[in-house]
Amino acid sequence: MESITLGQNGPIVTPLCIGTWAWGDRLFWNYGKEYGLEELQAAFNASLEAGITFFDTAEVYGFGVSEELIAQFMQKKDQKVQIATKYGPFPWRITGQSVADALTESLKRLQVQKVALYQVHWPFAFLMSQETLMNALADEVERGRIAAVGVSNYSASQMREAHQILARRGVPLAVNQVRYSLLTRQIESNGIFNIARELGVTILAYSPLAQGLLTGKYSVIGSTTPSGARKLDSRFSKEGLQKIEPVISLLCQFGEKYNRTPAQVSLNWLIAQGNVIPIAGAKTAQHVRDNAGALGWRLSDDEITQLEEISRPWLN
Ligand SMILES: NC(=O)c1ccc[n+]([C@@H]2O[C@H](COP(=O)([O-])OP(=O)(O)OC[C@H]3O[C@@H](n4cnc5c(N)ncnc54)[C@H](OP(=O)(O)O)[C@@H]3O)[C@@H](O)[C@H]2O)c1
Repeated sequence: MESITLGQNGPIVTPLCIGTWAWGDRLFWNYGKEYGLEELQAAFNASLEAGITFFDTAEVYGFGVSEELIAQFMQKKDQKVQIATKYGPFPWRITGQSVADALTESLKRLQVQKVALYQVHWPFAFLMSQETLMNALADEVERGRIAAVGVSNYSASQMREAHQILARRGVPLAVNQVRYSLLTRQIESNGIFNIARELGVTILAYSPLAQGLLTGKYSVIGSTTPSGARKLDSRFSKEGLQKIEPVISLLCQFGEKYNRTPAQVSLNWLIAQGNVIPIAGAKTAQHVRDNAGALGWRLSDDEITQLEEISRPWLN
């Protein structure tokens, strides 16, 4: 299995991360109805079997249940796992101590002493300044409870500011976790992608399959409909699905050539951008096994360009 360093000198992780937002989440996803504990346990085990040991979670996912499930699954396996979790800068969290307290709770739910990566979930910290927030995170690196610091949903300038504050403490900003896929390419046009590269910040690409759209299983002619809150998302409407047809068709064409699925081709394209680790959300072992097939091969330069060209409508 290849590996990637998070940021300049952070933990070394697998080039694909498993997303666990749906683990225990009943608000957006349909945890407990279409899938449950058994499927998630199987998904976790399938990840380790495929050599993927990097998992992304957050204190808010399933109101802590995602972290608890990871702990439960880890205990049944004797294998080193790297966890990225997130701090929610809620308006009532106004002092640096709230970072330490939230981390203590996450570590308790995860039943570990330390996580590989601790990320600020979104940039609006209300009454807490970025100065206070970043310094509290740097304190935790010094305390040894987090190996690396990340941010999420930060703009190019917010990422630069976070990077500067941390640099004064000698702590590199390791990642910016942002939405990025063939159907959401704004980070290439709004400066995030280039500045991340300049600063040595790794991009963790969330919703890399556009929440299932890039798997090709949702189509105008097919009968599969999305579960949960995606039912209200216009991208899954007939018009939305018609719009993405040319992208899906090219993914299928390349997939046939390499005997790969559209999901695998989509993730391979993201990895080919360099400095990008996709976080593929999974609810079943089958999802994990399929997505793991994005690794160990590479689209040709010409195919990467063709996918870039066909997805230009999603650059802005
Ligand atoms: N930082 C943030 O603000 C933020 C925001 C969103 C997500 N994230 C992170 O990113 C992760 C992934 O994002 P996401 O879950 O929104 O989107 P995603 O990874 O693009 O899509 C995940 C969904 O696609 C379907 N799927 C995945 N692999 C498949 C396969 N091989 N074949 C068929 N269907 C497949 C599954 O749903 P169905 O089977 O029901 O279609 C799955 O739940 C999250 O779990 C979370 O860790 C972070």
